[in-house]
Formats: sequence, C-alpha cells, structure tokens
Amino acid sequence: MKIAPSILSADFARLGDEIKDVEAGGADYIHVDVMDGQFVPNITIGPLIVEAIRPITKLPIDVHLMIEDPDKYIEAFAKAGADYISVHAEACRHLHRTIHHIKSLGVKAGVVLNPATPVETIQHIIEDIDLVLLMTVNPGFGGQKFIHSVVPKIKQVSDMINERGLNVEVEVDGGISADTAKVCADAGANVFVAGSAIYNQEDRKSAIEKIRESMI
Ligand code: DX5
Ligand code: ZN
Repeated sequence: MKIAPSILSADFARLGDEIKDVEAGGADYIHVDVMDGQFVPNITIGPLIVEAIRPITKLPIDVHLMIEDPDKYIEAFAKAGADYISVHAEACRHLHRTIHHIKSLGVKAGVVLNPATPVETIQHIIEDIDLVLLMTVNPGFGGQKFIHSVVPKIKQVSDMINERGLNVEVEVDGGISADTAKVCADAGANVFVAGSAIYNQEDRKSAIEKIRESMI
C-alpha cells in the first residue's frame, strides 16, 4: 500500500519543508495537483513548481493533470522531473496518442476517471498504462467528501487488471482518510492520495501511519 500526500493542502509558503516532512513521515509518492481553471474550477500550479521540488525529494513525483488539452504541457512536466503523469480520459480526444506521448518521454503514464465516468472507458488502453487513478470526489478542491458510489468501480478496474494479468497500479484520490481508505483497499486500490487528512494534521507521520494502519 502506497501513500501519496497531495501538496494541494500543504502550506505553499513553506513547500520544501512540507514535502520533506511527509517524506520523513513515510510517504511513498508526492502527489501534485495541476488545475487550469478550465477543466476544473480552480487554478493551482505548473511545471515550474515541479522543477523546484524535484531536487528536494527522492520520492517519485506523481503529477495529476486536471487540465484541458494536456498534450500541450506533457513535455514541460516530463522535463521538470515528473515520474508519473496522469491525464483525465474526459480531457483527451486521442487518449491512446496522449498516453504514448507520455511514455515516449520515459515517464510512467496514468489515466484518471471522474466519479461518473464508466470503467469501460479504459478497457482498450489499460494494457498500455502504468496506473489508473479513480477520483473519489469531483476534482477541483481538497477537503471534499468521499463519494462511496465509486467503490464498485475500484473493484471493476482491479478485476480487469487481474483477469488480464497486468501490472497496473490502482490509485484513489479524494476524501481519503483513515475512515475511507480500507473500503478502497478491500476493493483493490493500492495507492492512496490524501491531502487534507495528512496536511491538516500537525503530526504528518502519525497521520500517514493512521491511514496505513486503518487498512490492516
Ligand atoms: C482533487 C485533487 C486531490 C485533492 C485531494 O481535485 O485531485 O488530489 O488534493 O484532497 P483531499 O485528500 O483533501 O480530498
Ligand atoms: Zn489529485
């Protein structure tokens, strides 16, 4: 089980220390939420920040692009040092092309599905990707409530992966905490993004441990 703290809920004035804090606290990935004010109703950060944080952590940087026309920016995020780049199926007109573009840059590729997007959307691309990210909130903001109706989708994706004998990570994002992680883990998720459940706590190490322990 991997924990990926989302820096969206971090203190941006102290971003370097905020990342070092979760790394020391046992995080596995650093999740970076990129929003453009078009695909989602919020604007966050771009490749410049990824480039700035790259030298301060050894952890893989997991970039979640919530942007229209992601093809335009994939190269910039790859050059900035992203280890994973995930794109929303809803934002890609030519998903297969976009995925292979990411992989051609030596970066792991993920596809993200919004809560209302059916799992069938990825059935013809799943063999080409490294990660499926299932949104358990509607993307745009940290601190939202977990949407339980996504849980059967987690199981569907993990069945699809197992039936085909693939090695694809299943990540969940949105409202993940010690109260909601277990039901996702039981359904087959193995990467857990958590923003507010980690960064809104003073002690990040114990927040990460609490989520991990909740899944045992
Ligand atoms: C939502 C983002 C999430 C968000 C999660 O649009 O993709 O990564 O930061 O925040 P929490 O864990 O607070 O729901
Ligand atoms: Zn995210």
